[in-house]
Amino acid sequence: MKLLVWAGLLVYFCIQSSATAVSQSPTDVVCIAIAHAISSASEVFYPGDPLYNKGIYHVAISSTQHSKCVVEAGTPADVGKILVILGRTRTPFAVKGGGHITNIGFSSTLGVHISLYRFSEVKYNPVSQTVNVGSGLIWDDVYAALEPLGVNVVGARATGIGVAGFTLGGGYSYKTNQYGLAVDNVLAFQLVKPNGQVVQVSQASDPELFFGLKGGQNNFGVVTEFTLKTFPQTQVWGGVIEYPGTAVDAITAATVAFQNNVTDPKATIITAYTYIPTLETDLKLIIGLAIFYDAPVPPAGLFDAFLAVPATLKDVSTRNYLSLVQAAPTNFTQPTRVAYNLLPNLSFTSGVGALVLNETLAVGQLLTNKTLAVLSYAFEIFLPNIYSHNSYKTAFPPERAVPFQPFNILMEWTSSEFDTDYHETAVATQARLIKGQIALGQTGVANVPYYPNYAIAGTPLEKIYGANLPALMALKKRVDPSNVMGLAGGWKF
Ligand SMILES: Cc1cc2nc3c(=O)[nH]c(=O)nc-3n(C[C@H](O)[C@H](O)[C@H](O)COP(=O)(O)OP(=O)(O)OC[C@H]3O[C@@H](n4cnc5c(N)ncnc54)[C@H](O)[C@@H]3O)c2cc1C
Ligand SMILES: *[C@@H]1O[C@H](CO)[C@@H](O)[C@H](O)[C@H]1NC(C)=O
Ligand SMILES: *[C@@H]1O[C@H](CO)[C@@H](O)[C@H](O)[C@H]1NC(C)=O
Ligand SMILES: *[C@@H]1O[C@H](CO)[C@@H](O)[C@H](O)[C@H]1NC(C)=O
Ligand SMILES: *[C@@H]1O[C@H](CO)[C@@H](O)[C@H](O)[C@H]1NC(C)=O
Ligand SMILES: *[C@@H]1O[C@H](CO)[C@@H](O)[C@H](O)[C@H]1NC(C)=O
Repeated sequence: MKLLVWAGLLVYFCIQSSATAVSQSPTDVVCIAIAHAISSASEVFYPGDPLYNKGIYHVAISSTQHSKCVVEAGTPADVGKILVILGRTRTPFAVKGGGHITNIGFSSTLGVHISLYRFSEVKYNPVSQTVNVGSGLIWDDVYAALEPLGVNVVGARATGIGVAGFTLGGGYSYKTNQYGLAVDNVLAFQLVKPNGQVVQVSQASDPELFFGLKGGQNNFGVVTEFTLKTFPQTQVWGGVIEYPGTAVDAITAATVAFQNNVTDPKATIITAYTYIPTLETDLKLIIGLAIFYDAPVPPAGLFDAFLAVPATLKDVSTRNYLSLVQAAPTNFTQPTRVAYNLLPNLSFTSGVGALVLNETLAVGQLLTNKTLAVLSYAFEIFLPNIYSHNSYKTAFPPERAVPFQPFNILMEWTSSEFDTDYHETAVATQARLIKGQIALGQTGVANVPYYPNYAIAGTPLEKIYGANLPALMALKKRVDPSNVMGLAGGWKF
């Protein structure tokens, strides 16, 4: 068996087509009304059609739902017509970018699914050094289009992730040490408001809405295009490494030293403790590393502590950015159910390493008999000043003065019988690790914002949006007084 783990953030499993052919006939009145209202630039698809399956696709089978129809919108005006019909008929709906959120219902629905694949433009403006990017794209497409121009954007670190959900939730990138989050690099949003109106939202046109969209996900309407800052891009160096579980002490020490000593913003790593019950080793553990330097060759010595440890897999080289992001093959061996959660403000000390390692092994054993495929805890090492790259306020993070790092908890399993167990375990492991960190003296964790793109469904909104929440709720009342966007799932103001 070849099960590759990309530093905890991505595991390769097979997504079989989850949609079985059901009724082909357009019987739903709302779908029919939409089909009549939209222009010829847009189209409605029903179960059984391959484009229906493409529309509802999610990376995790557990967050795929079978909608009544999929409407592929082709123009912002058509998105507006669709939203008006959905609002008037109070029809539950979903808007999806890359389909990578793992919370069920956040970009899936049993009602009407709006697919944005037709918003697929990448238009670079060399004068302003900005790029207009359609909201139906995944980052891979954007990187591929920009590479020949020698420029790049602040986007995702793994293959297949949507521009839209990633950006509207915050967006931690390999370029974040240098330029901040994805939200810090958006100059304008083309937004279809819940009342159907199409507007260009910028700091100049509507500062409050501009603030709200930067982290507020789908609360304020449907974004059809982003205007993003670009930066020069050379070839980069890095990739993925997998170590046997026995290397945990060496990689933990190297990670602590990296965090404490490396101040070069071009360098970043992710270290993941990953439990795989089917491994043939006594310790069902592998250590995953994603390693990145934003130049063709890293400074001598910078990553030696990692490179010196014998690895079971090493794919590290000088390459283009897209190749780095796609370093691990996207092959899947089984349909997978996925839960994500996070830890606030994990400062990577050896004590925290021991705490998380114990948790990895304990929870791995606990879940083994519940069709566990992979359990992973990933430390994402960023510089403390990553929140200093924006002088405007953003919905997320609500707090920029104190440093905190994203930390990802990932669970994959195969049987829906255990969905509740996994949800509860993802919540419980987070709570135990927070307590453990506080016991180790990291008392600040109680007040650190939770990343909306990792947080598990049910997380209180205050944990994510903190002191911004009242302003976001007021903004929501202004932009969406009849709560059309409340018909779509997600973090709701
Ligand atoms: C394998 C993997 C790797 C990841 N790597 C990273 C990483 O490197 N850095 C990081 O920060 N995060 C990462 N994430 C988390 C990622 O940011 C979230 O999953 C994010 O939501 C993905 O965006 P999407 O467009 O694919 O999601 P979707 O599931 O399509 O959408 C997510 C949310 O955004 C809303 N939305 C989507 N499109 C629009 C739109 N046009 N207008 C309004 N609302 C919209 C949806 O309704 C939904 O609520 C990763 C996740 C996975 C599964
Ligand atoms: C780096 O950090 C570690 C751990 O904090 C420390 O012991 C070490 O002296 C530092 N310096 C170097 C060069 O690794
Ligand atoms: C991955 O899939 C591709 C195409 O489906 C195939 O050619 C390749 O051999 C697979 N690789 C692995 C490691 O399974
Ligand atoms: C290890 O993890 C288990 C399960 O969460 C917990 O009960 C135990 O107290 C932990 N031990 C240490 C030393 O942290
Ligand atoms: C898992 O199942 C096996 C086989 O049924 C059993 O021997 C083992 O004790 C179980 N482990 C746990 C942790 O429940
Ligand atoms: C996060 O942890 C670091 C290291 O322990 C600490 O310096 C920082 O103040 C913490 N942040 C918050 C918001 O507590």
